[in-house]
Amino acid sequence: MDKLIVQKSMGLKGEINISGAKNAALPIICASILSAETLELSNVPHLRDIKTLSELLRLMGIDVELSTGNMKITANNMTNCIAPYDLVKQMRASILVLGPLLARFGHAEVSLPGGCAIGARPVDIHLKGLEQMGAHIEIENGYIKAKVDKLKGARIVMDVVTVTGTENLLMAATLADGTTVLENCAREPEVTDLAECLVKMGAQIEGIGTDTLTIHGVAKLHGAKHSVIADRIEAGTYVVAAVMVQGDITLTNVRPDTMGSILDKVTSAGAKVTVTESTIHILMNGKPNAVDINTSPYPGFPTDMQAQFMAMNCIADGTSVIAENIFENRFMHVPELCRMGADIDIDGNVAVVRGGQFLTGASVMATDLRASASLVLAGLVADGETIVDRVYHLDRGYESMENKLNKVGANIQRISE
Ligand code: UD1
Repeated sequence: MDKLIVQKSMGLKGEINISGAKNAALPIICASILSAETLELSNVPHLRDIKTLSELLRLMGIDVELSTGNMKITANNMTNCIAPYDLVKQMRASILVLGPLLARFGHAEVSLPGGCAIGARPVDIHLKGLEQMGAHIEIENGYIKAKVDKLKGARIVMDVVTVTGTENLLMAATLADGTTVLENCAREPEVTDLAECLVKMGAQIEGIGTDTLTIHGVAKLHGAKHSVIADRIEAGTYVVAAVMVQGDITLTNVRPDTMGSILDKVTSAGAKVTVTESTIHILMNGKPNAVDINTSPYPGFPTDMQAQFMAMNCIADGTSVIAENIFENRFMHVPELCRMGADIDIDGNVAVVRGGQFLTGASVMATDLRASASLVLAGLVADGETIVDRVYHLDRGYESMENKLNKVGANIQRISE
């Protein structure tokens, strides 16, 4: 298992190129199942989750060509519609094959993802929506077994705003008979990117970017070319890094228009933020001010940035209150940050962070992706050496984080064991 050795690295300066968004690439790759023709993708991030999903599609007989940043996927020769536990347990987003398989082939067997480090994460809304479209679903031996002659359009109101739930039902509806109206949809930019790719494939979708999507089913989707949207969470992570190290950093190949509340928060923390259509410049002098955080669905503050802002608040001036409203167990980074000298109290879904702490390097590890990122950020400002273990979590969602940070002057070494 790899480890990162992070040395204190203040005043970072230079450019960081932002990769394509993992959370857009994953559903878009699954959308390839909806057509027998080739889907050609560019700006695909080089990540473990993308490899895991490619492996899953290949197991189904799909032809997947993956080279640096590009992917060609052709689902014209499927041999089965099964997503086995071994792969689904590695990556919950595998559930995204369910809607497309059912829509095109009328049957699917997908392992139930089960809980994960940040919470129970049920998929009931995905299943209820597919049932409303006429699917017959049973849970047997830990697998979701779904069947239908042909999905039918329906009006579906989702009780909770769910990103992958919206994506699964959206993909399923593109090939259903008649019109589907999805209400209370997630409006995350990644959902919009998927919808735009589906339109390029011939889907008829109205209301893209809003909480109501109307999908007129079509008989077939065709091949298309699509470039994956920039990763707003990767960009946000480096924005917070720049603030913490009092840096002067420009992010390139980014979409500032998708980052709303993240940039507002670092501006409140004292950073000077300048944006163009595809770049963000962060200039930070002095210590940040603490900022309160309240996670909520887009365009609210993203849960995927909560841990990184908590790391910043540990060293900021003042006390902050962080409320995590999306996942019930997403404070796994707190005990690790405390081992580095942070002063944080948790009460239910609320953390109170007393800032102004002097962090010192320690051996730490995290059990989820964004928590791991927060520990690397803390390591950049902690005195001495921070050893971040279980880096495979980080590799699921960040394309060579250590190389990108070292390019702007950080000192992070990867140790392979
Ligand atoms: C996606 C993102 C993840 C992000 C999360 C919230 C991907 C691959 N992952 O995860 O990085 O942290 O959105 O922005 O895009 N829920 C139910 N029933 C369901 C589905 C969800 O109760 O059927 C609940 C979840 O437990 C959670 C909330 O809804 O409390 C939101 O979860 P959801 O948006 O579904 O997260 P994911 O799509 O799994």
